[in-house]
Amino acid sequence: MVNFTVYNPVRLVFGNQIKDELGPCLKKFGMNILLIYGKGSVKKYGYYNQIMNVLTSGGFKVSEFSGIKPNPVIDDVRAAVKLGKEKKVDVVLALGGGSVIDSAKIISLGLQTEIDPWEFMTWRAHPEKATPLVTILTLAATGSEMNAAAVIQNHETGEKLGFVNELLFPKTSFLNPEFTLSVPKNYTAFGIVDLIAHSLESYFGEGEPSITDSFTFSIIKDAMRWAPKLLNNLDNLEYRANIMLDATLALNGITSYGKKGGDWGVHAMGHELSLMFDTPHGASLSIAYPAWLKLHKKTCSDRISKLGDALFDTSDVDETIEKLTAFFASVGSPVKLSEINVNGEQLSEIVAQYHRNKVSGMHHKLSKHDHQTLVTLMS
Ligand code: NZQ
Ligand code: ZN
Repeated sequence: MVNFTVYNPVRLVFGNQIKDELGPCLKKFGMNILLIYGKGSVKKYGYYNQIMNVLTSGGFKVSEFSGIKPNPVIDDVRAAVKLGKEKKVDVVLALGGGSVIDSAKIISLGLQTEIDPWEFMTWRAHPEKATPLVTILTLAATGSEMNAAAVIQNHETGEKLGFVNELLFPKTSFLNPEFTLSVPKNYTAFGIVDLIAHSLESYFGEGEPSITDSFTFSIIKDAMRWAPKLLNNLDNLEYRANIMLDATLALNGITSYGKKGGDWGVHAMGHELSLMFDTPHGASLSIAYPAWLKLHKKTCSDRISKLGDALFDTSDVDETIEKLTAFFASVGSPVKLSEINVNGEQLSEIVAQYHRNKVSGMHHKLSKHDHQTLVTLMS
């Protein structure tokens, strides 16, 4: 087993306690709130009204920044920081999916400094303080609600980067599965792919503690068990709740106990697709994972075989990759670039982009030759 450190201070409130618990939770940090949300789903489905009722009846002062995009961008983070500084807010409240929460995390850093927030994303600057962040999750996928990571795009520099820092842990995250009932079928599927991909990124990281492998397999198996039921019954609260918990557990640290961390090579591949083609995050991963596994089928044969044993009752490497790919396809997530209409010259642009941004994993390094092979395998 390798050396490792564990820390996770997030208070998780799972269920429909928001009405009673949100006000007291926020009051600990102040009365002046910066509410961050996306492009409209929270208003359309009534979550915004529910939260505003709590805030207005609790006497909070609220400034709003809306319009955060899926695959969020640094320009919105900068604009929200400006607003929050003008309004002298005490606490940031994120209402949305991973894009809203990730933006809110970097906003909470930006509020405490004159440093441009992109400097944090490139790891050139190190934050010293953050405005307290509380989140209300509306989409089960990223695990951002219980981790210290944020991923933001910058179209000027041509990068989608992840930043990890303990200051990014939300103080409290509210997970009410009722708030996910409206997530459309495609994003429900992308969320399931994402949580499985997080489990796999950890699994292929350095270190192989058997108990952690078992946690990881349990999360993936649970998600695979609920996925078809949920996708055929999007308004089933019990199915939603199970997937929501799976997604949080897949990236709150427990799949990295006894490990150096995850590999994250597949996420690096997927982020470039999102940056270039605005591909939803989960969709980019269902395209990238099969290719990555095929590239590593000799170097990681033992790990892939163990995965096959646990998930698909086979230790055959090719069959394991085929079955995982078939699962992604079965939930309606693309498994080839052609399915998202990326073809021809765009393929060499991806290779060039992979070279430019040195796409690689933490444990399994990817060479320029691998980039070419991976793009061929994805096409
Ligand atoms: O913008 P609105 O109108 O809110 O619509 C969103 C968006 O179009 C919609 N949506 C969210 N909740 C909904 C809903 N629609 C109906 N009902 C609801 N309850 O869903 C769309 C996608 O939302 P988004 O927040 O972009 O999705 P997700 O949660 O998958 O977040 C993806 C982002 O998180 C990053 C990804 O790279 C991507 O940028 N990630 C963050 C991680 C982290 N912080 O740990 C790890 C992940 O690997 C990932 O990289
Ligand atoms: Zn992910």
